[in-house]
Amino acid sequence: MVKTIEWVGGKVIMLDQSRLPVDVAYIECDNYLKVAEGIKKLWIRGAPAIGIAAAMGIALAARDIKAEDFESFISQLEPAIETILSTRPTAVNMKWAANRLKALLNSRRDESVSGLKELLVEESQKILDEDLQVNKAIGMWGEQFINDGDTILTHCNAGALATGGYYGTATAPMRVAKEMGKNFHVIADETRPVLQGARLTAWELMQDKIPVTLITDNTAGALMQRGEINLVIVGTDRTALNGDVANKIGTYSVAVLCKEHGIPFYVAAPLSSIDFNIPSGDQIPIEERGSEEVTDVFGKCKIAPEGVKVRNIAFDVTPAKYVTAIITEKGAFKPEDLKKLSGVEAEIDKLRIKIRK
Ligand code: MRU
Repeated sequence: MVKTIEWVGGKVIMLDQSRLPVDVAYIECDNYLKVAEGIKKLWIRGAPAIGIAAAMGIALAARDIKAEDFESFISQLEPAIETILSTRPTAVNMKWAANRLKALLNSRRDESVSGLKELLVEESQKILDEDLQVNKAIGMWGEQFINDGDTILTHCNAGALATGGYYGTATAPMRVAKEMGKNFHVIADETRPVLQGARLTAWELMQDKIPVTLITDNTAGALMQRGEINLVIVGTDRTALNGDVANKIGTYSVAVLCKEHGIPFYVAAPLSSIDFNIPSGDQIPIEERGSEEVTDVFGKCKIAPEGVKVRNIAFDVTPAKYVTAIITEKGAFKPEDLKKLSGVEAEIDKLRIKIRK
């Protein structure tokens, strides 16, 4: 699988996902503003991947600061952090990564400024390395929901490309199921308007020889009605404490369809995508993007009349009542049990959904 993001020789190298599947091209970012531009323009996208990009962007910003002491260093770093976080509001992973780096800095106030800069580079690399482990664990807990012969629908791209490495989140149970020798088929919603399902999910699954069929978004209901979908697995940009799930626009419609057809609807979510400070989905900020994503096909062809009014809401919120389980690196849980995840391990073990004992 291609790398989505790397820190190489003091630069952040990101795969330009806006050019997939036509070109596999990388962009070098040697300052934090370029990283922020990359997040905004979807060169890098997907909640965990932009969390990693934000951490590396903060490390780049820190490197260019001239300061003698901790206070001056932090006061110059703060505005750069705010600039990065302002690029995309919905995914909580950027804030999670920034808070992790800030907590680290605060715990090492006695360090020299050059030492602090080094710590940020190391920690952002750690966030990238951990991402792979976390997603593998999601896969290990999630594969139990996939039976031999199943057809799994997914929406948008919550695969390797949306994260720092191979497993992805929604695709992690699929990749682990494949490693275990299970046969299954994936249906990828194309995901209007930016087509992450068509351009990215279909591409990455084909690269790894996982059988995939692409459908238009409005075909999902018809396939469910025909009994051709066994389960749905999607990712999330931010899940609230009560289990309400923000994910790519169209996810809510898929979840409601699942309810009607008695199909389980799973959400794969690293704990870094769960906002333990937000009681319900109403408080999740939802990004709205430019009209050209809807009226034009990637700047090449107009598909709507000039001047038409457009709403381009990038994410929706699926209420917890539609979610069968949330699969995290700590196990799979009912959405209403998320709030208990900070408890003791023995209690958490009782809440885990285990199909096979
Ligand atoms: O706008 P995008 O492409 O960043 O949206 C991505 C999604 O909606 C993903 O499903 C979500 O970030 C989870 S990625 C593991």
